[in-house]
Amino acid sequence: MPARLEGGRELEVAVVTTERAKHFYSPQDIPVTLYSDADEWEMWKCRSDPVLHIDLRRWADLMLVAPLDANTLGKVASGICDNLLTCVIRAWDCRKPLLFCPAMNTVMWEHPITAQQVGQLKAFGYVEIPCVAKKLVCGDQGLGAMAEVGTIVGKVEEILFRHSGSQQS
Ligand SMILES: Cc1cc2nc3c(=O)[nH]c(=O)nc-3n(C[C@H](O)[C@H](O)[C@H](O)COP(=O)(O)O)c2cc1C
Repeated sequence: MPARLEGGRELEVAVVTTERAKHFYSPQDIPVTLYSDADEWEMWKCRSDPVLHIDLRRWADLMLVAPLDANTLGKVASGICDNLLTCVIRAWDCRKPLLFCPAMNTVMWEHPITAQQVGQLKAFGYVEIPCVAKKLVCGDQGLGAMAEVGTIVGKVEEILFRHSGSQQS
């Protein structure tokens, strides 16, 4: 089912989840196709079968990683690809936009390795949608919360429609 944006534009959306992320939502609340590691391995049995992470990167015009946690940030910065999400990112064609929304505890955010790794992703050409300061789920107050959904959608629209050159009717 396509997702409808304000203004009537429609987007085909697929969600790629990590196994750990599954702890934080119910699959029945995701109204679009949801892929996880099992799909990658179940889909491929022999040479003629599709390789999901390659098919997804061919299919998508834009990739949004939201939230990008500290663990996956570290993997992406160093090229590790040990699950479906990091394989799609590792296989991503850097001529297409990739946006990331860091989200982590304030002290994790302030650790010097975070700036190094975020800088590495930006050097790849990926676009940071910066985290914001608020009271976090763990009770700490400060930077590290994922950007507001409206901010993220606005940035996706700005980049996607500028990139594709599509005009709103
Ligand atoms: C309740 C809870 C909340 C968490 N929130 C975050 C978070 O906001 N940011 C983060 O970087 N890690 C967070 N973590 C730690 C990650 O879940 C952990 O590093 C995990 O291994 C990430 O796996 P993934 O990158 O494959 O999804 C949280 C863990 C728990 C138990």
